[in-house]
Amino acid sequence: MKRKTLILGLLSILCAWPAAAQRPVYQDPSQPIEKRVDDALSRMTTAEKIGIIHAQSKFSSAGVPRLGLPELWMTDGPHGIRPEVLWDEWDQAGWSNDSCTAFPALTCLAATWNPEMSALYGRSIGEEALYRGKDVLLGPGVNIYRTPLNGRNFEYMGEDPYLASRMVVPYVKGVQQNGVAACVKHFALNNQEAFRHQYNARLDDRALYEIYLPAFRAAVVEGEAWSIMPAYNLYGREHLAESKRLLGDVLRDEWKFDGVTISDWGAVHSTRRTVTQGVDMEFGTATDGLSAGTKNAYDSYYLAQPYLKLINEGVFGTKELDEKARRVLRLMFRTALKPDKPMGSMNSPEHSKAAHDIAVQGIVLLKNDRAVLPIDLGKRPTILVVGENAIKMMTVGGGSSSLKARYEISPLDGLKARVGTRGTVNYVRGYVGDVGGSYNGVSSGQDLNESRTPEQLRTEAVEAAAKADYVVFVGGLNKSDHQDCEGADRLALGLPYGQDELIAALAKANPNLVVVNISGNAVAMPWVKEVPAIVQGWYLGSETGHALATVLTGDVDPSGRLPFTFPVSLNDVGAHRLGEYPGNAAQLEAMKQAGHQADTIDVRYNEGIFVGYRFADKERVAPLFPFGHGLTYTTFGYSKPTVDKAVMTADGTLDVSLTVTNTGKRAGEEVVQLYISDKKSSLPRPVKELKGFRKVRLAPGESKEVRFTVDREALSYFDDRAHQWVAEPGEFEALIGASATDIRGKVKFSLR
Ligand code: BGC
Repeated sequence: MKRKTLILGLLSILCAWPAAAQRPVYQDPSQPIEKRVDDALSRMTTAEKIGIIHAQSKFSSAGVPRLGLPELWMTDGPHGIRPEVLWDEWDQAGWSNDSCTAFPALTCLAATWNPEMSALYGRSIGEEALYRGKDVLLGPGVNIYRTPLNGRNFEYMGEDPYLASRMVVPYVKGVQQNGVAACVKHFALNNQEAFRHQYNARLDDRALYEIYLPAFRAAVVEGEAWSIMPAYNLYGREHLAESKRLLGDVLRDEWKFDGVTISDWGAVHSTRRTVTQGVDMEFGTATDGLSAGTKNAYDSYYLAQPYLKLINEGVFGTKELDEKARRVLRLMFRTALKPDKPMGSMNSPEHSKAAHDIAVQGIVLLKNDRAVLPIDLGKRPTILVVGENAIKMMTVGGGSSSLKARYEISPLDGLKARVGTRGTVNYVRGYVGDVGGSYNGVSSGQDLNESRTPEQLRTEAVEAAAKADYVVFVGGLNKSDHQDCEGADRLALGLPYGQDELIAALAKANPNLVVVNISGNAVAMPWVKEVPAIVQGWYLGSETGHALATVLTGDVDPSGRLPFTFPVSLNDVGAHRLGEYPGNAAQLEAMKQAGHQADTIDVRYNEGIFVGYRFADKERVAPLFPFGHGLTYTTFGYSKPTVDKAVMTADGTLDVSLTVTNTGKRAGEEVVQLYISDKKSSLPRPVKELKGFRKVRLAPGESKEVRFTVDREALSYFDDRAHQWVAEPGEFEALIGASATDIRGKVKFSLR
């Protein structure tokens, strides 16, 4: 009996053996991804392929349960993991375990000028995405800062293609090392929110390739981003989600992108165009809250039943479908089915520290006359904090990047915690901005209502200011409509809510006034000469108050540098002086007369490559604060830069080096910037362009050598007639600076 059982047992093992060995290739993690993709694709029906290329809910797409292929889950992005929403609604689902770490806004990240901070950011937010079961993080954004009115600039990385390129790559890699795809957005030319579904960006290829594409290219080619989100707007009269030129010619053919193009929510407009030249995956159509909000419309998506119908009618074969499904499968194997995926983590002390360190490194000291900062706690000062932004939660609002942060330390609480018993911190409101504090069902829980008149608030603030040792005004913009918020642009460069008058009055009342501007955009500062200390505070996320207090009290030297120019007025911005914004004036007028919105409005980027400091240099306009600017509590000296050879050959490189010394009494970080100037060229070129930077930490008296390697790419312009990058032989100059207007040394070389 026993022997019989044993034999039967052995037989059953032997029978099962071939089955295990013949595990389908797509299920075998030891097989290369491309083989698994091919195999999975060969087993899928046409309907199943259609099923995986469009949404099944607000933020997910279906898998193929029959084959064990999983759903894919998307999340905003880019500053933290968005709270769970209902299946088919924008409103939060009310989970109690989905609050996140809010990281600083991407403008702040760019202001760190520190790629290590980008890597830390990407890795940390990737871990939070992973823990929450997300496969695709809808971010980062790298649209170039063309106008300070763009409501979404706070989600992007500034005005310079080189800076944005260097900062985006580590973010993408950091996210993806967790098996979560970065989805780089909004590709491309999404430089304003006004008419975002209607405007057609018109620009020459030179501006396209030199200014607006490099950061996307870096994210794709160097960062190897697994997905990309085309923008809502149009280019070449085609919506970007259906753009043959940008999705086909540029992304696929030139950059060899093998990832997935994921439509922005509600950005697809036609089945036929999308099938032949548009995105691989469709999200948000007709449920985007922008058009009539159809419920559960997923089967009617352009890439759902209407597509299947065209295939069944023989209008399309399955070539395009196979290609889209293949890309989605590749994404599945890279993310949801990644074999050695860690668990991720949420709200860990490490993530709080990451948010804090990034915030500290991004805060920019714009002005510091009479060394008003850092606040001297040795004197047990009385500090008066004024302003709504000292108490207002900023992680709620602003559009799709709105968060449900597990905690957010306000500037007032951060300062109180830091000062403790070493001084007194009092608060008065000063002005009322926007008392609202909810977004898609997430509420800040704050009651900011105020019954006193603006005059009463101002009088109270000015009287209290006269009695304090320091006044710290915390104001700026917020995340409400027409401020730093998706869906609309700002209406003016100036500060809202009567803040200018209040600041001017505070400056008269107290000589030690510090203005902390919370914004993701440049603002006008008509009081700049009257205020001794000005700090650019961005949106700093969970650790806002702690990070600001760290810098204001001098625990850490400020080391952020501006990632975009602060102009004095809009007339000092290329897009406004030379180009069109928010659209072609005649078309706008005709539209107004007709009383309805046009389908398409042209926006001509007549300023071409002259964006940001490139425009200020060309027109010789002095900015309010230049690109790259940021002070510290110490001082730095630069040696004269030298080159290792006077002549660079076409296929060679050249080193520019210098020594930077901390000449002050405190430790601090300097951001050494390398700009290249082409002295003579066939095409007009900017006076100079950023081609290198290095953040260097130095103890008092310490010196370090900084060395930059210049290659052909750093000397090239894009010749749009020949459609190629050209490094023209001739004279060049390497400029070493502490900002775009603070050049400390120059050295000539030539290219042969
Ligand atoms: C935004 C995207 C966002 C998406 C999903 C759109 O309105 O433009 O940036 O990822 O919504 O929330």
